[in-house]
Parts: sequence; C-alpha cells; structure tokens
Amino acid sequence: MCGIIGYLGKNEASPILLESLRRLEYRGYDSAGITTIHNGKLFVKKAAGRLVNLADLLVKEPIRGKIGIGHTRWATHGKATTINAHPQSSNNVSVVHNGIIENYKEIKKQLIEEGYFFRSETDTEVIPLLCQKFLDQGYSYTDSVHQTVDLLKGQYAICFLFENNDDLIFLARSGSPLVIGHSRSTTYVASDALALAGLTKEITYLEDGDTAAISREGTTIFDSSHKNVHRSKTFVSINAIDLQKGGFKHYMLKEIHEQPKALAKAIQTVTSENWLDEASVGNLPLDEIEGVNLLGCGTAEYACMIASYWFENLAKLPGRTEIASEFKYRDPIIKPNDLSIFVSQSGETADTLSALRYVIKNKGHNLSILNNLASTMAKESTYSLPIHADLELSVASTKAFTCQLVILAGLALELGKIRKNLSRKEYEQYREGLLNLPGYINIILDLSEEIRKIAQFLTECPNALFIGRGLMFPTALEGALKLKEISYIHAEGMAAGELKHGPISLIERTFPTVVLAPSDYLFDKTKSNMEEIQSRNGPIILLSDARGIDDVGKDVDFSLTLPKVHPLLTPIIYTIPLQLLAYHSGVIKGLDVDNPRHLAKSVTVE
Ligand code: AGP
Repeated sequence: MCGIIGYLGKNEASPILLESLRRLEYRGYDSAGITTIHNGKLFVKKAAGRLVNLADLLVKEPIRGKIGIGHTRWATHGKATTINAHPQSSNNVSVVHNGIIENYKEIKKQLIEEGYFFRSETDTEVIPLLCQKFLDQGYSYTDSVHQTVDLLKGQYAICFLFENNDDLIFLARSGSPLVIGHSRSTTYVASDALALAGLTKEITYLEDGDTAAISREGTTIFDSSHKNVHRSKTFVSINAIDLQKGGFKHYMLKEIHEQPKALAKAIQTVTSENWLDEASVGNLPLDEIEGVNLLGCGTAEYACMIASYWFENLAKLPGRTEIASEFKYRDPIIKPNDLSIFVSQSGETADTLSALRYVIKNKGHNLSILNNLASTMAKESTYSLPIHADLELSVASTKAFTCQLVILAGLALELGKIRKNLSRKEYEQYREGLLNLPGYINIILDLSEEIRKIAQFLTECPNALFIGRGLMFPTALEGALKLKEISYIHAEGMAAGELKHGPISLIERTFPTVVLAPSDYLFDKTKSNMEEIQSRNGPIILLSDARGIDDVGKDVDFSLTLPKVHPLLTPIIYTIPLQLLAYHSGVIKGLDVDNPRHLAKSVTVE
C-alpha cells in the first residue's frame, strides 16, 4: 500500500518528510518522491526504487521550504519509474495519492481534448490537471478541489499543494485512510498514524468523503457535501521504541519472537470469564447463530480456514470460509442467522472491506477481528474484536496470524459454551492448552538454528510442496505462502490426500516436500503420503512431535521435533517453524525480508 506524508511548520520540510517516509517503508513500495514550496515555487524530487535513492538525490539537489508532501508508491497503473512516481504535478498543482481513480481514462481523454498535457502512465496524474483546470477557470482553491473530487470515482487519499501558496495543504479522503497530526505550531498529514510516531500523538482521522484545508491558522474540515464539519482528535500512543528492531536484524524476526508475549495478551483476553461481554459484541444474538462465514485475504484467509474447523468441532456450527476477493461476485446468500466474521490485520484490505460492505448491505450479522481498531473496517463493522498483536511492521503477517487464531479459537470456545456443546471439563482442557502455548512457542524459537540449516537446503531448490491433513492443510497453505512471499521460491500448499491426484508428478530430487504431521488420528494416512514421495526420490522435511519423529524420523531428509499440544491447537504451534523457515530462506538469499518485492503490507486496492 502506498504511503503519504505531509508537513506544514517552522522547519525545513524535506528531512522531516524523508524520515516519515522511512516509517512507511514497511507498507511496501517501488518509488518515492516529495514536493516542497519555497518562495512560492513548487520543487519536486522523485526517484524509482528504494527510499535511499530519493535521499541520495536530495543530497545532490536539496530543496527548501517549510511546507511539503511526500509519497512512497506501490505501482498499480504504470511501471515503477521516476516519471510515474508521486508527487504528480501540473503547472501549479502537485499531489500525492493512495488508491485507484477508476474513471481516470475518461477524465484524461477530456483533459487532453481541452489541451492539457500528460507526462506519466498513472491514473493519479488526472488529479492535479483536473484541479489545474478549475483554477485556470478562476475557481478558489477550495472550490477547485471540491469540483475535482466530485468527478473522481474509486478510492483515494490525496494531498494537494499549490504554487504561490506556502500556507495550504488540501486533503481528500475516500476509501483510503488519511490522518492529520497536530503539534503546537506544526501540522502533519499521513496515510498511517505510524508515520507520525515520535512527532505527535494528537491525531484527527478523516472520514470517507471528507476534505480538509490545513494552514498555519488552523484546519478546516468539510464533509462529503463540502459543509464544515468537526472531527474529534484522538491520542495515539505509538512510541518511537516500538518502531525499533529491538536488537533483531529484521522486523520480521523481531515479530516472530514477539509471539509468546503477543499471544499471552490475546490468550489472557479469551480465557477471562465473559470476555465476549456487552462491550465487545453488544446485542449480537450469539445463541441464535446457525452458521459462520469466515472471510479474509492471504494469511488472514488461512486463519479463517483453520477457524472453520474450530467452529465445527467446538461449537457444532457450520463454518464456511471464503476468499474475500471472490465472495461478493458470486452473489452469496446472506442468511439472517449467519454470522460473517472478517479477519484482517490492517483493517484496510480493500477486498475484505468490500466483502464486509456486501454483508452489511444485506443486513447480515458481522464481526471483524482486527489489529487496528482505528481502521476503516473497525469503523464500518457492527462489532470488532482486537487481536492485541501490537504493531506489525514487516510485510509478512506472523504474530498477527497467530493472534488472529487465538481470538478465533476463543470465539469458537465461547460459542461452544453458549450452545452447550462443550462440557466444563472440555472447556477447561482447551483453556489449559491455550495458556500453555507461549511456553511451547519459546521452545520452538530455540530451534531457529536447526531451521536455518533446513532453509540452507531449501534455498538450493527452485520449488517446494507443503502438505498436511485436517488442520495441517490450511497450515500448509500458510507455510507455502510465507516461503514464496519472503524467499521468492515457488511453493505450493495442498491437502496431503490430494498429492496422488496429480501433483505427485512434480516430485523429484530437487523438489522437496515439507510434511506437517502431528502424531494424531491422521498421522498414518500422512505417513503413506510420505512413502509415495520417498518412492519417487522426493526429499522430505518432516514437522511432527516426538512420537511421530520416533516412528519415521530416521527415514526423512530433515525433521523437526515440535511440542505435543492439543490437536486443535497444532496450527498455532506448527506455523512458528514455517515462519522461521521462510525468514531464514529469505536472509540466506540476501533478500529484503521486511519489504519483499512487489508486496504491500495492506492492499487497499481491489
Ligand atoms: C501475509 O504474510 C501477507 N502479507 C498477506 O497475505 C496479508 O495477510 C493479506 O494481504 C491480508 O492483509 P490484512 O490481514 O491486513 O487484511
């Protein structure tokens, strides 16, 4: 997801913009740029690639000015080149933009016919040129911006700067987050409060349809009908310490190691009496729920798949999972007593948000499980539950995934209790299992060096399979996603039983299979899958517990002995080594594990 920053104050804007853009690097990007205004003139500097390229350019060609905007771009329309980088500008207007202008082609065609000249391949460039057109017709800054946004269709967060006016930043928000930071004689703008950590804690969140004019005299906010409106300030406690790597080489490794602590907070929540009280789910008729739909994207969707087993097992509720980007296009039936659960770390993922809006429009019960309660999904969901993972800066979802699983497990247990499907003894058993998880995760984190050795082998292979049965099937999907998104090794996750129905043709010496097989009721079946692989010379990396390793550990190429936990909690345990496997593979290949190529932390476009 692109990153936006804006500054209006008493100091030189350029270094402040650059430092704040560094705070947004985790979101993923492929070019960056800033605009400042000095002596009334617009100065624009942009560079493709990493932020360091922009920093180098600004050393060679510094720009002055106490007002500016900046952007890290994740390319949607047009390649990741300097000309396509933001800010995009006309003669007198410079803008940065997150989101997609869906009707940019027709606007661009009209402006070209009216004699306006385009330089880039981006959809964004229509914004400054459209605003320029209204300024050229004599409209005020405010009216020019309002006329411009009234013509835009799609999602956007936009900052406008105007030549000859070094006391005005105009903002517009529709579908993509934008916040204003206040600090004495300085005002900041950002697409994410995180970029303002250490600069200010006083934040105003703009709402969809809002525009705002920021000047040294103050900030005026307009609602979607362009009428003045008040938006309250909140205090955000992101401190600079949270942004450090805490002695770890990468945020991803730090966040993997934070899981015992993060999970402890989530576990403490779901194991406390009546945690699903009035405050959290209000009058959601949990006792009348007849089915659960679980929706998310990527890793969050795999959390949904795992949770669907739990709702069936613990609450005897039909649990259906959907890839959020597919959901609304099949015109799903929303039953009055179904509960739709939306899982999202960022709460800004456009596909998941779009599915949520479909359910809300069809008056379905909806509940979001989120890491950011100031997010768009939190604002629009009828109910939302926090996962307590704290900041997750690496693009890879690690501690957020396991915290999502804990909250989902807690929800399934609670529904099991409410529906009287769980005896007190059974409930206590699961509760005990959850409480023991942080200790088990610490044991696995101590296997990091052993896992690094397996990664050494994996990085010599162009492909890998991940297989498992039952709860280990979605866990295998997540393991494959982690490996491919972090190390760029092609990896495929699948149900172990599916291997013989086609994919087994892939097996050969250079095509290893990671087998997830706790010694449970499915172990023997997975064992026969392993024999199928071994008889075709395929290398095997086996993750199991002591009993499983004793049984077949001597026949495999690599094995990892994991703690034996309650079968329903194995996904949380087995995902930790898979996160470390992906991390070490990426590091061994010398890749930027915190910002993998082409990826964004939250994908705010459909
Ligand atoms: C996970 O490692 C990926 N970065 C990605 O699949 C992510 O889980 C997905 O884009 C959903 O993001 P969200 O949880 O913020 O909605």
